[in-house]
Amino acid sequence: MSGFSSVTAAEEARPSGAVVAESAVDGIQFPAGFRWGAATASYQIEGAATAGGRGSSIWDTFSHTPGKVVGGDTGDIACDHYNRYAEDVAILKHLGVSAYRFSVAWPRIQPDGTGPVNAEGLAFYDRLVDELLGAGIEPMLTLYHWDLPQALEDKGGWPNRDTAYRFAEYATLVHERLGDRVDDWTTLNEPFCSAFLGYYAGIHAPGAQDARQSLAALHHLLLGHGLATQSMRAQARPGHRFSLVLNLATVRTDGDTDEHREAVRRVDGLQNRIFLDPVLRGEYPADIVADLAPVTDFDFVADGDLTTIATPLDLVGVNNYSCARVGPGGAEDAAGPFPGLRHATLLPPRGPLTLIGWEQDPDGLYELLVRLYRDYPQVPLMITENGAAFADTVSADGRVRDPDRRAYLDQHVRAVHRAIQDGVDLRGYLAWSLLDNFEWAEGYAMRFGLVHVDFETQRRTVKDSGHWYGDLARRNGL
Ligand code: FCB
Repeated sequence: MSGFSSVTAAEEARPSGAVVAESAVDGIQFPAGFRWGAATASYQIEGAATAGGRGSSIWDTFSHTPGKVVGGDTGDIACDHYNRYAEDVAILKHLGVSAYRFSVAWPRIQPDGTGPVNAEGLAFYDRLVDELLGAGIEPMLTLYHWDLPQALEDKGGWPNRDTAYRFAEYATLVHERLGDRVDDWTTLNEPFCSAFLGYYAGIHAPGAQDARQSLAALHHLLLGHGLATQSMRAQARPGHRFSLVLNLATVRTDGDTDEHREAVRRVDGLQNRIFLDPVLRGEYPADIVADLAPVTDFDFVADGDLTTIATPLDLVGVNNYSCARVGPGGAEDAAGPFPGLRHATLLPPRGPLTLIGWEQDPDGLYELLVRLYRDYPQVPLMITENGAAFADTVSADGRVRDPDRRAYLDQHVRAVHRAIQDGVDLRGYLAWSLLDNFEWAEGYAMRFGLVHVDFETQRRTVKDSGHWYGDLARRNGL
């Protein structure tokens, strides 16, 4: 095995007596076939930004624009995973997980967002998939984790309807070439972030700030998802599973007045239902469409779009890190990521927080899963991201002691287990993330990995939480 660092078997079994006593998940067993894995995304780990004919993406442009990313960090090198993928797959195998969720960089496949496959770009994913299969790890492929080819942004990006068709074309090409070995196909990761953070809040690429455009972007992302799913299904082989990954959250409030309930309804609508309802029910939520009347009349929705968007799925991936807290608000727009949000105030998170400032709310995850299964019972779920950022360092003895992350994972895994016991059809859990990586606008300071990365030397060190997680995965419980 190549140069990553790991502790001895004895240490692995008992990284720290105190921590074990505090967080043992005694007697918890998950259903047979439950999948345990780790997730990453192309721009966050690959680096090699110009290698193999890769075109540039909106995240290259954005991260190279002064003031957009903390510390001026970019994904130019990141974890150099493009060159070190074999070592990273060896780490996954060493941990003992059975699934790996990664994303394909569209600009490696089609440098300008259209046209034939760039063979060298595709070859990288060919090698990665073969390496995973050779290690006995199931590849779970996401087609879009935010790296839109810059050439398509130059033509209007996601607010431009044509981008949906370009996405379906790209998805079909990748599926055609890797569908012989990959069974799990996710179209989009978190269209909330692409649409609302990218085109309304302006804190993600491409950094636009236009409420109407962000809703057009949302619609075209979902349309692209539907078109891509239909087209891949038409050429699928038995065993292929198609999914969409959404970032969803329980919305909490303290009071019990009509104003409090109204605030929850509005934020829940923009955080959760505006994505779930079109995809799983074939309609945008009528109350939210009415709330958004001052912003848009949804004239970007063409006949037949919602049928396309509601193409049946095999799975919905749930990314969850925290809850949202809201209180009553006035008629003016609320600051925050939600276009057109009024009559709601976004309240600060409550401690204990993770390093990135997100509230730790495992009960919120449990409530979310139960609610999803109640309101959208027809589709199985999987946790496709969950995890926490903390300030990790490598100790003199070579270990990374991260009891806070371990406790966070422990509590959230318990919440997931409780939801399954209550009947939720939940098929797996993927930790975010395999590696410390480029955390978007936060740069490299926010470490989410089960594996520590020294960005100077590219040395990987499995954290205590990584060993704990691997143990959980191998035993399918603890
Ligand atoms: C999610 C993203 C993922 C990562 C985590 C922390 O919103 O999908 O890429 O940044 O947050």
